[in-house]
Amino acid sequence: MSAPPARLLERIASIVGGRLLTSAAQQQPFLTDHRALYHGRALAVAQPESAEQVAQLLALCNAERIGVVPQGGNTGYCGGATPDESGAQLLISLARLKRIRAVDPLNDSLIAEAGCVLADVQRAADEAQRFFPLSLGSQGSCQIGGNLSTNAGGVHVLRYGMMRELVLGLEVALPDGRLLSSLSRLRKDNTGYDIKSLFLGAEGTLGIITAASLKLFPRIRATASAFAAVRDPEAAVELLARLRENSAERVSSFELIPRLAVELTSRHIPGVRDPLDSPHRWYVLIELTSARARDPLDEMLSECLEPALSEGLLEDAVIARNARDRADFWKLRETIPEAQRRDGASLKHDISVPVAAIASFIERAGQWVADNVPDGRLVAYGHAGDGNLHFNINQAPGADRAAFLARGETIQRAIHDLVRQFDGSISAEHGIGRLKVGELERYAPPVELELMHTVKRALDPNGIMNPGKVLRGHP
Ligand code: FAD
Ligand code: MLT
Ligand code: ZN
Repeated sequence: MSAPPARLLERIASIVGGRLLTSAAQQQPFLTDHRALYHGRALAVAQPESAEQVAQLLALCNAERIGVVPQGGNTGYCGGATPDESGAQLLISLARLKRIRAVDPLNDSLIAEAGCVLADVQRAADEAQRFFPLSLGSQGSCQIGGNLSTNAGGVHVLRYGMMRELVLGLEVALPDGRLLSSLSRLRKDNTGYDIKSLFLGAEGTLGIITAASLKLFPRIRATASAFAAVRDPEAAVELLARLRENSAERVSSFELIPRLAVELTSRHIPGVRDPLDSPHRWYVLIELTSARARDPLDEMLSECLEPALSEGLLEDAVIARNARDRADFWKLRETIPEAQRRDGASLKHDISVPVAAIASFIERAGQWVADNVPDGRLVAYGHAGDGNLHFNINQAPGADRAAFLARGETIQRAIHDLVRQFDGSISAEHGIGRLKVGELERYAPPVELELMHTVKRALDPNGIMNPGKVLRGHP
């Protein structure tokens, strides 16, 4: 039998020292996702400040069978941090767990609480002469707990891996109120199952991450960046292979950008301009980095780009002369999502295929879009070095917004079916959340899906953790 809400709210409030938002006006900023796809209601928004408080909240919610929705920076793309419409779920904001508990340069590690903003963690690493490589357009507001829970990717995966690969240990509040304290700083530890990995990418459906031990790397002391027009995506993949071979492991970003993205960012984002003199169909933004200040990275870039220009793989290229040029290249790249948003409705597909198959995927899927979506324009861009494309379609100028969006599911089905034919993924880096629950059911290998449900039942038998996200049907 559930406690009456008023009494329940008092108990929750006493756990978090009164930091509980109960009025609609106070809760409002927490109830809509970044893309405004979902608008939820909540029993209340709790703002704990310690791992122990989070664990106590979960113990209470488990006993009372209250659904819990963890929220970090609320920049996620799949509605995972938004409560449902019932008004019965408790939203737990992690924003007050924002201490960097330790920085250990000799061990190349750092312990951050879940609510630390990613940019603050990068800064803390930098102050210790180290580098924390996760880098996303949302880094000024997304939080480490959200990054871990979505297994975020971004623009340095090529060299450093996704968030999963940057973790040494975790502290997690479990649904029954126990605190898993596993903030290991070890590089090697083969003691049974890798329990922490269950929570990475779980999107708050198995527990609440309260802190993490993260890997640091040598500080970057030399950078070379180029913005290059490639003949086509196939030439881009060939160029990437050459760059990797010629520069050892110095390639840290390799982002594919179509012409339309250059036009949209130049039109909608103040300060963005085309770095090249004439238009081209495809571009890549390349970055090489090194911990050695005197590493001749510009030379390495030129040694690769010049032959590629004379062979016709490249049509034009410019190397950044200084930090200002570099920032301009990145501004163009990082503001593509915002420019798309300002231009009108868009349908997003965060897909991946094997790197070698990118060009044929773009050709096949691009042809499908040209034949079947006359009211849309393809903006396929992203982390080509990881085989990850944001295969987005924007509403064409003058097209009817509602009619365009109404076909979203049919279009998504066709694109995802093609992704399957290429042995790809229907969610490369943004996760499942609420948005892609049906897609996961459709495309996940059946045994894998069954195992996911088994894990969910084992860790959260009452189904209180982020109900309806990633998996449905719990309890
Ligand atoms: P939220 O949105 O608050 O939550 C995301 C999910 O994690 C939810 O399911 C939530 O319940 C859960 N969660 C949050 N905190 C915790 C916790 N402590 N414990 C358990 N569960 C928790 N993503 C990429 O991967 N690559 C990109 O390049 C990228 N670029 C982006 C650019 C822009 C401009 C924007 C707006 C977003 C971008 N994203 C990108 C998406 C987003 O920023 C990431 O998914 C990010 O990791 C989400 O972090 P957050 O703190 O905002 O999480
Ligand atoms: C990006 O790489 O820009 C994001 O992951 C995609 C997006 O913001 O839509
Ligand atoms: Zn991305």
